[in-house]
Amino acid sequence: MIAKGVSCIMMKSKTHVLFCLISLCFVSNVLHVLSEAIAKPSSTSTVSYLLYGGTTSETTAAYGRKWEPDTKYLVSSSNTAPVQATYQDPSLPSIVPYMNGRIMTSEATYHFKLHGKSRHWIRLHFYPIDYNSFAAKDAYFSVVAGGITLLKNFNTSVTALALTQSHVIKEYSFYPNTEDLYITFTPSSDHKGSYAIINGIEVISMPDLYKSASLLGFNEQTVDAESSVLETLYRLNVGGQFIPASNDSGLTRTWYDDTPYVLYANEGVTSTSNKTDHKFKYTTDVPEMIAPYDVYTTARSMGPNSTVNMNSNLSWFFQVDSNFTYLVRLHFCEMEYTKDNMRVFEISINNKVAEQAADVILWGNMESDIPVYKDYAVYVSDSLGGDNNLTVSLHPAVDADPPPTTYDALLNGLEIFKMNDTLGNLAGPNPVPSDYMLRVEKLKDEQQKKLDAEKELENKKRNKVVGGAAGGAAAVGLVAAVCIVVYQRKKRVLGSDPGLASGWLPLYGSWSNSKSTSSSGKSCSSSTLSSLAQGLCRHFSFAEMKSGTRNFDESQVIGVGGFGKVYKGVVDGGTKVAIKRANPSSEQGLHEFRTEIEMLSKLRHRHLVSLIGFCEEDEEMILVYDYMGNGTLREHLYKTNKPQLSWKQRLEICIGAARGLYYLHTGAKYTIIHRDVKTTNILVDEKWVAKVSDFGLSKTGPSLNQTHVSTVVKGSFGYLDPEYFRRQQLTDKSDVYSFGVVLFEVLCARPALNPTLPKEQVSLADWALHCIRKGMLEDIIDPNLKGKINPECLKKFAETAEKCLSDQGTHRPSMGDVLWNLEFALQLHENPNGASLIADERSRTSEATAHGIDTDVSYGGESSMDETTDSMNSTNAAFSQLINPQGR
Ligand SMILES: *[C@@H]1O[C@H](CO)[C@@H](O)[C@H](O)[C@H]1NC(C)=O
Ligand SMILES: *[C@@H]1O[C@H](CO)[C@@H](O)[C@H](O)[C@H]1NC(C)=O
Ligand SMILES: *[C@@H]1O[C@H](CO)[C@@H](O)[C@H](O)[C@H]1NC(C)=O
Ligand SMILES: *[C@@H]1O[C@H](CO)[C@@H](O)[C@H](O)[C@H]1NC(C)=O
Ligand SMILES: *[C@@H]1O[C@H](CO)[C@@H](O)[C@H](O)[C@H]1NC(C)=O
Ligand SMILES: *[C@@H]1O[C@H](CO)[C@@H](O)[C@H](O)[C@H]1NC(C)=O
Ligand SMILES: *[C@@H]1O[C@H](CO)[C@@H](O)[C@H](O)[C@H]1NC(C)=O
Ligand SMILES: *[C@@H]1O[C@H](CO)[C@@H](O)[C@H](O)[C@H]1NC(C)=O
Repeated sequence: MIAKGVSCIMMKSKTHVLFCLISLCFVSNVLHVLSEAIAKPSSTSTVSYLLYGGTTSETTAAYGRKWEPDTKYLVSSSNTAPVQATYQDPSLPSIVPYMNGRIMTSEATYHFKLHGKSRHWIRLHFYPIDYNSFAAKDAYFSVVAGGITLLKNFNTSVTALALTQSHVIKEYSFYPNTEDLYITFTPSSDHKGSYAIINGIEVISMPDLYKSASLLGFNEQTVDAESSVLETLYRLNVGGQFIPASNDSGLTRTWYDDTPYVLYANEGVTSTSNKTDHKFKYTTDVPEMIAPYDVYTTARSMGPNSTVNMNSNLSWFFQVDSNFTYLVRLHFCEMEYTKDNMRVFEISINNKVAEQAADVILWGNMESDIPVYKDYAVYVSDSLGGDNNLTVSLHPAVDADPPPTTYDALLNGLEIFKMNDTLGNLAGPNPVPSDYMLRVEKLKDEQQKKLDAEKELENKKRNKVVGGAAGGAAAVGLVAAVCIVVYQRKKRVLGSDPGLASGWLPLYGSWSNSKSTSSSGKSCSSSTLSSLAQGLCRHFSFAEMKSGTRNFDESQVIGVGGFGKVYKGVVDGGTKVAIKRANPSSEQGLHEFRTEIEMLSKLRHRHLVSLIGFCEEDEEMILVYDYMGNGTLREHLYKTNKPQLSWKQRLEICIGAARGLYYLHTGAKYTIIHRDVKTTNILVDEKWVAKVSDFGLSKTGPSLNQTHVSTVVKGSFGYLDPEYFRRQQLTDKSDVYSFGVVLFEVLCARPALNPTLPKEQVSLADWALHCIRKGMLEDIIDPNLKGKINPECLKKFAETAEKCLSDQGTHRPSMGDVLWNLEFALQLHENPNGASLIADERSRTSEATAHGIDTDVSYGGESSMDETTDSMNSTNAAFSQLINPQGR
């Protein structure tokens, strides 16, 4: 019972969003910095410190970055204690510098000796979870560096929650006025039991990149950025891709994709220079390190139609704290036009004109391919109505004289820094998490209380049974087990962004997120696989796995998740496979490892990912799957440089996935509920056949005398059935709900959850329903699809998706209905006139569909066979298959 409880409360730590609201967040494997860059920068007065709180010896992280113990720099270490996290959130980018830290119950100061007064980065790393008896919610403190207040009453856990991150990174660019830098942490006095925590500190010298900037709206007034402390809020590679710190010309900055910040009305078009090995001509004013190469090779502009452009804006929207001055840095590089007065545009920030006629060619001394940047300062007050908005807007200079030859605008990169105020303060209020995240948090707390009560009961029972010394030992074991539960729960934030890793299989795989722990704290014995599964599923030796992946060579990695890595590999001298290997040192997820083997070995279907075999040797847990050449559906939708999928391709993939789910729900003796339907769990093979993957969470559904399975909430936020939220009851309609979110994701090409958007838009499900009700669906569909979908087809598709999102499960269609409606939508798209015939066919045969399913295809065993005849391209074949499922 306890074992079940333990594995049940694991919330799947996955999320679909990663954009940072307020601080920089580094993404999987990219935190690490080229150590050479730090070792030999241009300036001679160089110094860098990387401190890893609470450690006792130097730790080398990836890329050879060395983190020192913090003790040497601590001025006084009374009332501080090293702590170690017992739970590693799968979304943490790395172990260092997060798993260790230092807790301070009263004021504590670090001292750094700087060589000369040059500008430095200060980066603070926080991992808010419960440490021993220190609850995450009590981490509440202020940080002052060199006399400037960086953080005040900083609540690390609520900040992480608002960012939907497990960790928080704060980046400051600091100009010291002495060679001694003191960083002081002070627990806030207005909350009882508050303490300060720090996991990692970076102090790194950097070139001076900031000068004074003119303050918009105040004639002739400038702001002194040079002597101010700047906090990095946003750093975007406009029109381009995420750039990790290791690729940033030695300055260890991280650049994000700008898409989430572009206002919907006019997204413009992105362009990438088609010249290979582009040679930019850097000038003395614009040194090469100002932004990496990739920032200047990609851009966003308005699009080819001048008539449309002259009446619209290209705008980005950001949330910031009011009562501060912001330094907005815009990067440009004109690669398309070679003469002046061709692309000229107005730049305004918060409705204040920054440039009336920006002409990048003029700025580049009449040449193209010259990177330039412009700094503007803007004060955001809360009296002017638009409280904490910061909007950057570009508009063609239609009034210029002479008028430009094109009405268009251009931007390559954008950075926003917050400046300290005149009182030496940079701290603002804690961010407010979206309602959705708060709901999730509340639910988790309720569930935790329930589980704690259960644990308590179990605890008492155990103590009665085991007496004396043995009892003591058992209690310790039990405490350990309970701790795991608590730490598991404490992962506030839900995973890394699957969109960023180019994964293709259950990357964010279920077995990552739970420890399968029995009541004594030991893991289950390793011989519990059913003999049936063992018979159906091939057993590989570890040696085969090693040789198939060139000894797990890094070059073979196609994805990384919390559980470990997924490798591309070969077996049997040539068969391409995907090999998912759990972290050898961890005991994690044995239970889900087995669930996946049990489930997948018995289920064979064209639209389900096939498990080929597994390897379980010593500590190793490895699953071997079919190789899916085209990766996840998600990576073809957004935040990608892959070619856009056509509407027909998208529909066909949805239909394939629907068919896989339909099979799970009805094709077997028992209903199988997937429980984690989302775009990263829908994979696509070389021939664009969609396959549903990741069964680690699957549950066998209700048998005849039950209508639902009662269980603790799992699954991925953004896709969760609201009924499941309320009643914690799982039905096949929960999958239908999640699939509805998938359908909107496919149509709108945006994540299910995007906390950087205005509140009402955060959840795609809520926003899409809202837009449909307002008749605004057209406004939110993927701009690449606009005008390319037959209107009847769009209507049918949207109607289907909307019904899937019905609040109550009983009002949602079955997976079979969804499948049929999607098939119908495809017909409407391909052959608008012939579609009515199909509708007739449907009504005649729907009865046949209702029967003959449960009885003819059984779950597992000998009748689980490969379904081979189904063709994605032939809708007629598809229909007959649906009507006559015996074929499978
Ligand atoms: C910090 O935020 C959490 C929400 O995540 C809240 O429960 C807690 O009360 C806050 N702590 C303080 C001291 O305000
Ligand atoms: C980082 O730079 C290297 C070498 O220029 C390149 O191969 C790699 O793709 C880059 N990585 C990212 C994520 O941009
Ligand atoms: C790059 O694109 C321009 C126009 O978009 C075209 O004229 C030129 O030939 C292309 N260059 C290369 C090397 O493909
Ligand atoms: C530009 O857009 C307008 C309005 O949508 C349209 O009437 C016009 O034909 C378009 N021009 C071109 C060249 O596509
Ligand atoms: C474009 O932006 C400017 C400045 O923000 C604003 O005054 C104007 O109304 C906007 N125009 C459109 C068409 O959105
Ligand atoms: C901003 O400053 C005004 C005037 O000093 C003050 O009334 C207001 O409360 C401040 N707002 C915030 C969010 O601190
Ligand atoms: C700016 O903030 C106001 C008030 O919070 C809000 O109503 C408005 O929609 C925001 N502007 C934009 C462009 O989102
Ligand atoms: C930030 O603080 C410094 C001194 O600590 C001051 O010179 C500078 O003017 C402040 N910046 C702003 C924007 O007020």
